[in-house]
Amino acid sequence: MQPAYYENFDEIKKKIWLMLDDAISNRASEFRIPTFICGDQSDFDGRIVVLRKSDQHNNTVQFHSDIRSDKIEKLKKNPKAAMLFYDKEEKIQVRLKIECVVNHNNDITKESWSKTQHISRKCYLVDNGPGSESEIPTSGLKPELDNFDYTKEQSEEGYKNFTVIQCKIKFIEWLYLAAKGHRRARFDLENNKDTWLVP
Ligand SMILES: Cc1cc2nc3c(=O)[nH]c(=O)nc-3n(C[C@H](O)[C@H](O)[C@H](O)COP(=O)(O)O)c2cc1C
Repeated sequence: MQPAYYENFDEIKKKIWLMLDDAISNRASEFRIPTFICGDQSDFDGRIVVLRKSDQHNNTVQFHSDIRSDKIEKLKKNPKAAMLFYDKEEKIQVRLKIECVVNHNNDITKESWSKTQHISRKCYLVDNGPGSESEIPTSGLKPELDNFDYTKEQSEEGYKNFTVIQCKIKFIEWLYLAAKGHRRARFDLENNKDTWLVP
């Protein structure tokens, strides 16, 4: 039997948001770590990020990053980007075309920072930003930080590097693999237009 979302736009959208919402709290979800792709015409690349928020009402998703990461400069020049998800069990691929807003030192970062775990603040405490060259193999952290030997108060130091990337979704593309026949659909969220595509 085919699932309700096999050939029904509304059911597909429902399924997509269920999967995105679940990924925020479910560490086992394959949608929790999408590939985020950005750049310009001559230099673009992808990297894994952790999905931190999904909001169907506003058509947004968001993730966290370090202000010193190369992708921040790229996003300032070109906020258009993409996000790619695949769930092997569900046989569902979701591709998002998005426009990004980089939040730094504002109410949005304040709220997200307050919810970060003491231990996960470690990645914002590296002396030099992600992608900096080093003469030796390194985590970029001082030894005491590597050993989680720091107080919550000391971890506040990382806030100055903390960014929240808000991604406004413009298009969603859905691909469902099924023995009976794959199905593919595109959702234009700005124009509220749903289209079937040949997979
Ligand atoms: C499982 C996993 C989760 C990651 N989560 C994030 C994240 O939420 N934000 C982020 O900026 N980088 C994250 N990274 C690291 C990025 O993939 C990338 O290495 C880093 O952001 C530096 O690359 P860039 O500056 O070119 O983006 C994660 C990597 C892995 C493997």
